[in-house]
Amino acid sequence: MATQVSTRYWSGLLLLTLCFLSCASGGDGVATTTATAIRRWKQETKRHLNKLNKPAVKSIKSPDGDIIDCVNVSHQPSFDHPLFRNHTIQARPSFHPEAQYDESKLASKLSSSSQKKQSSKQISQLWHKNGRCPENTIPIRRTKEEDVLRATSLKSYGKKKHRTIPFPLSSDPDLINENGHEHAISYVEGDDYYGAKATMNVWNPQIQQSNEFSLSQLWILGGSFGDDLNSIEAGWQVSPDLYGDSNTRLFTYWTSDSYQATGCYNLLCSGFIQINNEIAMGASISPISDYRGSQYDISILVWKDPKEGNWWMQFGEKHVLGYWPSFLFSYLADSASMIEWGGEIVNTVADGDHTSTQMGSGHFPGEGFGKASYFRNIQIVDSSNNLRSPKGIETYTEESSCYDVQNDQNGDWGNYFYYGGPGKNPNCP
Ligand SMILES: *[C@@H]1O[C@H](CO)[C@@H](O)[C@H](O)[C@H]1NC(C)=O
Ligand SMILES: *[C@@H]1O[C@H](CO)[C@@H](O)[C@H](O)[C@H]1NC(C)=O
Repeated sequence: MATQVSTRYWSGLLLLTLCFLSCASGGDGVATTTATAIRRWKQETKRHLNKLNKPAVKSIKSPDGDIIDCVNVSHQPSFDHPLFRNHTIQARPSFHPEAQYDESKLASKLSSSSQKKQSSKQISQLWHKNGRCPENTIPIRRTKEEDVLRATSLKSYGKKKHRTIPFPLSSDPDLINENGHEHAISYVEGDDYYGAKATMNVWNPQIQQSNEFSLSQLWILGGSFGDDLNSIEAGWQVSPDLYGDSNTRLFTYWTSDSYQATGCYNLLCSGFIQINNEIAMGASISPISDYRGSQYDISILVWKDPKEGNWWMQFGEKHVLGYWPSFLFSYLADSASMIEWGGEIVNTVADGDHTSTQMGSGHFPGEGFGKASYFRNIQIVDSSNNLRSPKGIETYTEESSCYDVQNDQNGDWGNYFYYGGPGKNPNCP
């Protein structure tokens, strides 16, 4: 008998629930409006995807699920914008900054050193396992419908969600820590800079919430920290919201108005002109460093072409990826006033606590080589267009008990620092 009663009780509740749901969703009018809205929104999404995804000469399926489209270099997304209509692609930079010392010699010295065992294996991108792009095309990571759907709006897709002033020295102290962005960085300022270089080891930090991210990069900054900050950024990142997974990916970012209307990640808007057919922006990097195991690092150089004024980017020692045209910027059309290197994470304070999203290796600088994340041989390009050790390096972190940074210097690594941390821990408020 007890079973029967409870069955009747549950079916009654079910009917009530159904009635409630149909009442709440209203009549046919509302349903039609909803259907129209969904249809319109689907059309807009499709239009946006068609804009981002150019017809491919060839497509390559990467083991991580990405599709890499090899797109005619003259058909890349930047050329959609009227500003680029008359733009002639620069096939190469007119100038390449000279290093103070022979870095290839340095690398072999490192690999023979027993204390700092350096893997000699080349770091590359996962999609290379399944093919290459032909000449005169560039590899572009295809944007999928679900990528766009994770964004809060079509407009915000590919953009940093919040103003993230990457600065120790904001003119407005209240902006510090706004929206939970936290940093552990080294920086220089007070001079005119024409580029920066660094070698950083690559990790796969754990991200607690899908709307958080963890990245390691260099910043080329121009202007004040108000509404018109110019920034060029490049490095590696883990960003579940942007890519739909937790892989470590190569990325770039730029803005000429403090992350407001201009700029985006990778090739997700007009801006960066890519010329290289081997490296895809936003694609997964492989292999990555192991705690107490093999260490893998990447080198990034960004410099200003003294003749054309464009800002070029090089990945590793041989891949010149492309450039940001000078006309995108105001201050950076001239020079940079600050260079930063290091990590940034977002802490959403989920459940009222600092989250356990890791920066770098997720370990503090004090653990040193093989355990902590590093930037080594950090250099700037000076006004004579030479690569130089930066002078007057400072460090900055909002809360060193969550993520920390430690500068140092030696003959092999030049100016270097360890940085990062685990986030949530008994000392991290
Ligand atoms: C790429 O596009 C340009 C301009 O539309 C065209 O002239 C050229 O033939 C294309 N190249 C290939 C390989 O399709
Ligand atoms: C492109 O060139 C045409 C013809 O020379 C000119 O009228 C137009 O203003 C130029 N557009 C830009 C954005 O420079």
